[in-house]
Amino acid sequence: MLYQLWLLQQLLVWAVPWLAATATSVGADKTAVYAKDLLNQSMAFMDRNYDPVAGYQFNLNTALLHETRSSAWYAVGLLARNEKDDADHAAKILSNIIGGQYHNTSEQWYGDYEVYPEGPYPGTEAYPAVIYNSWDPNWRGFIGTAFIIIVEEFGHRLPHSLVDRVVKSIHLSALGDTYRVGGVDDDNLYPAYSNAAIMKAAVAGWVGRRVGDKNLTAEGESWGGEIIDLFNRNQTLSEFNGPTYLGVSLLALTFWAKYLPSDSVLGANGARMIREIWDLTGQLYNADMKNIAGPWDRSYSYDMQRALAIAGLWIWSFVGLEDAPMYRVPSAMAHVDDFEIGPLISVLAPYHRQFVGEKTMEAFRTFGEEHFVRRQAFSPPYDACPRNITTWMSANLTIGAENFEENVVGGPSVNPAQFNPAVVQWLRRDGSAGFVTLFPEVEALKAVVTEGRLNLTYPFGNETSQFTLHVSPNPLGGRRDVRSWDDVAGVKVNVSGSVDLTPTVSFCGVVGGECDPVNDFDLWNFTYSMPAGSTKLPNLILDIEWAE
Ligand SMILES: *[C@@H]1O[C@H](CO)[C@@H](O)[C@H](O)[C@H]1NC(C)=O
Ligand SMILES: *[C@@H]1O[C@H](CO)[C@@H](O)[C@H](O)[C@H]1NC(C)=O
Ligand SMILES: *[C@@H]1O[C@H](CO)[C@@H](O)[C@H](O)[C@H]1NC(C)=O
Ligand SMILES: *[C@@H]1O[C@H](CO)[C@@H](O)[C@H](O)[C@H]1NC(C)=O
Ligand SMILES: *[C@@H]1O[C@H](CO)[C@@H](O)[C@H](O)[C@H]1NC(C)=O
Ligand SMILES: *[C@@H]1O[C@H](CO)[C@@H](O)[C@H](O)[C@H]1NC(C)=O
Ligand SMILES: *[C@@H]1O[C@H](CO)[C@@H](O)[C@H](O)[C@H]1NC(C)=O
Ligand SMILES: *[C@@H]1O[C@H](CO)[C@@H](O)[C@H](O)[C@H]1NC(C)=O
Ligand SMILES: *[C@@H]1O[C@H](CO)[C@@H](O)[C@H](O)[C@H]1NC(C)=O
Ligand SMILES: *[C@@H]1O[C@H](CO)[C@@H](O)[C@H](O)[C@H]1NC(C)=O
Repeated sequence: MLYQLWLLQQLLVWAVPWLAATATSVGADKTAVYAKDLLNQSMAFMDRNYDPVAGYQFNLNTALLHETRSSAWYAVGLLARNEKDDADHAAKILSNIIGGQYHNTSEQWYGDYEVYPEGPYPGTEAYPAVIYNSWDPNWRGFIGTAFIIIVEEFGHRLPHSLVDRVVKSIHLSALGDTYRVGGVDDDNLYPAYSNAAIMKAAVAGWVGRRVGDKNLTAEGESWGGEIIDLFNRNQTLSEFNGPTYLGVSLLALTFWAKYLPSDSVLGANGARMIREIWDLTGQLYNADMKNIAGPWDRSYSYDMQRALAIAGLWIWSFVGLEDAPMYRVPSAMAHVDDFEIGPLISVLAPYHRQFVGEKTMEAFRTFGEEHFVRRQAFSPPYDACPRNITTWMSANLTIGAENFEENVVGGPSVNPAQFNPAVVQWLRRDGSAGFVTLFPEVEALKAVVTEGRLNLTYPFGNETSQFTLHVSPNPLGGRRDVRSWDDVAGVKVNVSGSVDLTPTVSFCGVVGGECDPVNDFDLWNFTYSMPAGSTKLPNLILDIEWAE
């Protein structure tokens, strides 16, 4: 055996230069092929939702209303595909979107793009200006970045005069974005709001240089510097992990790396940050389960094979759809509207691929050794101290959680449905991932993860506290009624701690139960309360084993 290994090693020494050359070129070629497939499929999806008369994408699940952001993403795809009259339609869409930009400098949504062209003007009695509702501040960044790709990669496919208008629109969008100050007027844009902040820095930095607006160039540098300082604390984005927004942050960082010069902090740090994020993501990835393990600061996807997550689109472009954490028919998945960002990822993936290390590429294909991942992440001004993340990765079972002490419930986005500070996933018979996720109801959590154990304590809790766990229903053919852990397929769970060991179990389903599904997932709600009169700290311990 040893001799054979030695022979193999000799062979490798001899063959390495040749193998390395081949492997690199094959890897690069495949990314181009897979990225093209992503373009083709995401465009096929959007072609069906395109209104060629209006020059807009339809707003999914509405009575044929239109939508601005997905139209901008579609325009990128049209220009990348560039068949028949694609470029003409892109031009029409761009004119529409630019025409719907807000110009009033006295309004908070100055420079932003309307959410949908039929919507009333925000800020009236009938249609109050509600941030992230009647207007969305992040659309400056989402549309601004799409426009940058258009100018950088496909400007030659558009009339000069239109390219000028696109650049002016990006400039206006960046000027409007300077109105954003976390904590003022209901805005929450701090450097720790990673995906939005990275987009903001990218757009300001790019357009500042392009049009010679030194204020915006400086704005990009100063936001970039603060984002990087937070990242450098422990090579983590403040908005840690999370299959959805991780994908957006990676996209925005690609702008830093590709379109900004190295004398900018953005250009100087983008590539390194992308590389380090993928190194970490590789450690958190379980290829057999096709999922990025928790905890997730912000995600809509409890199982990446069932709910489409933007990080899944990146992985698709590196390894192909068949091996990606996606269902083979993406349009059937939950949260399918994120498929509409596909063209941007497709265009940038062949460049981006060089920053995905070989260890991570390997992790996308096979799960290696059982291991722990330990990191910290920090989101001022919400965190009193850094959050401590521990994830235990094993072949068929992963447990990940983070400690936190915050001044809000539900994480910095104040959204308990997106903030998943304690997550268990396991491989089920049908290949999908079962999950348990703690529904956050407190401002502070002590979470200790060890092999097969999740130990949760509320340091400021009392006898009125409860732990609410959202638990996946069994797959098709499994037990439909769940009364206790014994009915949950694929895992064995023992419960201990200071809580009353008998949970209340209720169901949240699409057509009934005690509550609605969360993020389109049906759920069993296991809630553990404290015994009346208890003076102990609320503590819940799950001992978990994978079971056939
Ligand atoms: C593009 O997608 C369409 C629809 O999904 C499919 O029929 C076609 O074969 C694909 N083309 C290529 C070149 O992959
Ligand atoms: C701009 O917005 C302000 C504040 O809402 C409003 O008073 C003003 O009339 C608007 N200007 C124009 C030209 O619409
Ligand atoms: C840059 O900012 C300064 C100070 O806020 C302002 O006076 C100046 O007009 C701005 N320049 C541009 C080009 O916007
Ligand atoms: C990152 O944080 C982890 C967990 O606290 C720690 O073990 C590791 O040393 C830190 N790394 C750096 C470079 O600070
Ligand atoms: C993981 O699950 C597979 C079946 O999907 C099973 O064959 C294997 O033994 C399990 N591994 C462990 C370590 O439990
Ligand atoms: C995380 O760990 C650090 C020590 O590295 C500690 O100071 C901090 O309080 C911990 N955070 C939480 C929320 O417990
Ligand atoms: C659970 O974690 C707490 C710290 O938060 C620790 O004191 C306790 O010993 C742990 N319990 C078990 C059973 O591991
Ligand atoms: C228990 O905690 C709840 C929620 O923080 C709080 O409203 C309540 O006053 C606390 N009760 C006692 C007895 O401290
Ligand atoms: C889960 O059930 C508990 C106990 O019945 C209830 O208080 C809680 O509101 C439910 N939570 C969710 C998010 O369904
Ligand atoms: C649960 O407890 C039983 C009895 O102590 C033990 O045999 C079993 O191994 C435990 N299972 C887990 C998952 O800890």
